[in-house]
Amino acid sequence: MTGFYFAQNDSSLERVAKKTAELSLLAKGDGAEIMLQRVMAGNFFVVSPGETDELMEFFYILDGKVSYKQQDTNIYIEKGDYFYAHKLKEDICLKAENEVTMLYVSTQPVFHLLSNEIKELNQISSMIQEKDLYTHNHEQRVNNYCVKIASKMNMTKEGLEKLFYSALYHDVGKINVPDEILLKPGALTREEFEYVKKHPTDGRKLVEKTYLREIGEIIEQHHERLDGSGYPLGLQEDEIRVEAKIVAVLDSFDAMTSDRPYRKGMSPKIAMEELKKFVGIHYDKNVVEIFEEILKEEGIL
Ligand SMILES: [Fe+2]
Ligand SMILES: [Fe+2]
Repeated sequence: MTGFYFAQNDSSLERVAKKTAELSLLAKGDGAEIMLQRVMAGNFFVVSPGETDELMEFFYILDGKVSYKQQDTNIYIEKGDYFYAHKLKEDICLKAENEVTMLYVSTQPVFHLLSNEIKELNQISSMIQEKDLYTHNHEQRVNNYCVKIASKMNMTKEGLEKLFYSALYHDVGKINVPDEILLKPGALTREEFEYVKKHPTDGRKLVEKTYLREIGEIIEQHHERLDGSGYPLGLQEDEIRVEAKIVAVLDSFDAMTSDRPYRKGMSPKIAMEELKKFVGIHYDKNVVEIFEEILKEEGIL
C-alpha cells in the first residue's frame, strides 16, 4: 500500500538520547513532526516561542508527571493530560517529576534543531568523561546539591534549570587543560596553574556554542570569590551571580571531600568547618548555611 506506514517494536526515523532526555522522530510530513519525548526524573525542559506565530507544539502525556510554576503555585500535568503552545510569548519551563513520556506534535520541523543541541551537549559531556573520570563524577555530585540548595532558596524554575546545567557543565573547560597538568599528583607550578585558570572562560565559550549559551556567565564565574581573590576575572560580592556563588561552595566542598591519587579526602564535617572559616570572604553566607542545613537533614553532618 503506497503511502501507508506503520512501525513496531519501538522503531523510529531518528533518535537522539542523552542522560537526561530522549527524543525520537516517529513521522513527518507537510512540515509537521510527530515525536516521542522522554525526560528522566528531576530534569527540566523548556517550551519556547516559535520563530513565527504559526508554530503550534502539542504534548500528550503518555506516562509520568510534569510540573510548572504559575505565579506561586505548582501545576501538575500527568498521564492522560496534555498541554500545547501556540503564539507563545515567553519560555515555559517544565520539570519532569518522574520519568515522563510524551507524544510531541509540532506543526513545524523542530527535531533537527533540538537534536543538534542535544548532540552538542552529549559531545561536551563525553569529552570530559574521556578526559578525567574525577571531573565527570565531580560535576554530577556538585549538580545534585546545587539544585537542592537552590530549591530551598526558592529560585524560579527558569533559574533552577540554568543552575542545573551550569553545575553539570561547570568544569567543561578543563577539556583544554593538558593531561599532565590535569592529572598531576601534587601541587602545580605557577605556569601550570595559569593554564588551569583558563578553564572557566573556556567553559563559557564551549557552552555558548550550544543553546545553553545563557549559562556561560555562571560557568565563567564559578571560581570567583567574594573578596575578589578568585579567578579569572577577580569579581567581588554582587558582581558574582548567585548561581555561581552556589556552584563555588559545592565545588570547593566536593574537591575537599574527594579522594585524589595523592591525598585522602577530608570528612564532610571538617570540610564544612573549612567553608565556614571563609564565609563572607570567599563564600556566600546564605548558601553555606543552607548547605549545612541540608547535610544535617541528610544525616551527613
Ligand atoms: Fe572549576
Ligand atoms: Fe569543579
